[in-house]
Amino acid sequence: MSLLIKNGRIITGDSDYGADIFIDGETVHTIGKNLSVKADREIDATGKLVFPGGIDPHVHLDMPFMGTFSSDTHETGTRAALFGGTTTVIDFVLQKQGHSLQEALAEWNSRAQGNAVGDYSFHMAVTDFNENTKKEIKVMVEKEGITSFKTFMAYKGALMIDDRQMIGLMEEVREQGGMVTVHATNGDMIDYLIQKHRDEGKLSPLYHYLSQPEVTEAEASERFVDMANYTGCPAYIVHLTCEGALNAVRNATRRNQKVFVETCIQYLLLDASLYEKDFEGAKWVMSPPLREKKDQETLWAGINQGLVNIVATDHCPFMLKQKKMGEKDFSKIPNGHPAIENRMELLYSEGVHKGKISLNKYVEVACTNPAKIFGMFPRKGTIAVGSDADIVIFDPNEEHKLSAATHHMNVDYSGYEGWQLTGKVKTVLLRGKIAIDKNECLIKKGFGKFIKRKKVSGKI
Ligand code: URP
Ligand code: ZN
Ligand code: ZN
Repeated sequence: MSLLIKNGRIITGDSDYGADIFIDGETVHTIGKNLSVKADREIDATGKLVFPGGIDPHVHLDMPFMGTFSSDTHETGTRAALFGGTTTVIDFVLQKQGHSLQEALAEWNSRAQGNAVGDYSFHMAVTDFNENTKKEIKVMVEKEGITSFKTFMAYKGALMIDDRQMIGLMEEVREQGGMVTVHATNGDMIDYLIQKHRDEGKLSPLYHYLSQPEVTEAEASERFVDMANYTGCPAYIVHLTCEGALNAVRNATRRNQKVFVETCIQYLLLDASLYEKDFEGAKWVMSPPLREKKDQETLWAGINQGLVNIVATDHCPFMLKQKKMGEKDFSKIPNGHPAIENRMELLYSEGVHKGKISLNKYVEVACTNPAKIFGMFPRKGTIAVGSDADIVIFDPNEEHKLSAATHHMNVDYSGYEGWQLTGKVKTVLLRGKIAIDKNECLIKKGFGKFIKRKKVSGKI
């Protein structure tokens, strides 16, 4: 099957030009002006922007968490991602404490294989680092193509590791050519504040926010950055939300240390005033919580300064019924919010259209950097000869509204209900196949492939 995209304006992380794209099979064959080549199908992209497929490196699909499962499966989540222009996601495998990484991987494979509609990869979350886990790191990197290892400095008793385990893991991961990523918040401080609020009868969602003040994230981020510097391990902070945490990364640049930073779309656009809506605030209960307007400004600036490298989602949806598990106690509200489908359009509308970031920066943080940082470039994350034909055809002028009534995520609310956006995903190709067109998904579950990733250098 061949396909010709005519007359589009192609945007990559570092270029912006008009050309045609000829796709043969799964990959881009030729890019050039006025290509006169016969194709099985032609798409006219006049007046449209043509982006590489988006990559969301932080999603939780069908994940057991806080006594329930996140409500999007690998099928519904990757399909919704495609509707929103994201062609590849990286999901998290969670090691169970006392069990092996291989057991966890087998469990996640059983849920994802044959179900994913879009392409996916896995990070491995190490929740119990010991002599046995240590031996498995090499296997993950060399055999499974899993080169990033997630750690939690919070969620004590379930996911959190201590600094002794962190240092050991960093040394081994560095040795094997991988990267350590982190949920950087001080779990002990947070647990103390949660208990204090509960003891005082302060049980509404607002106290979720007040139990995780900025200092809990700034402190843990600095500690993580220092441990990464000491061990020389490539390092990445997931869902960074605030000025204090970003300053820890900024300070590290003074000693020529590079730590990658991901923020998520919600931290750029939403703020903590949403927690004042009584129980409705549960819709935005996530960790870390939404912050202040000044933090949003810091994050937008951080993107333009090259300190914030990726805009992801931390997509971890729960139905309202699941959120109600914490109706009487904020600490029982499953943490997470849905955005896998909305990231690319929100970032375009609120970022590019409103003049906060350039088109090239948009592609860099939503498509190219995730591929580069996580060992998928240039197969993914760009439009180039030989790359996978993962392509988004985007109308920069179309206006539309976000709503749970029309989204494709398996969740019964939207964190952005009624938001009016400018710019809409029209057609999405995944490995040369038309996946989304005319608001319909044209590929079936099982089309999504597991993407094995390369070793990483910690540089881009
Ligand atoms: O609230 C969140 N972020 N839920 C998902 C788990 C995590 O910490 O990333
Ligand atoms: Zn987290
Ligand atoms: Zn997460």
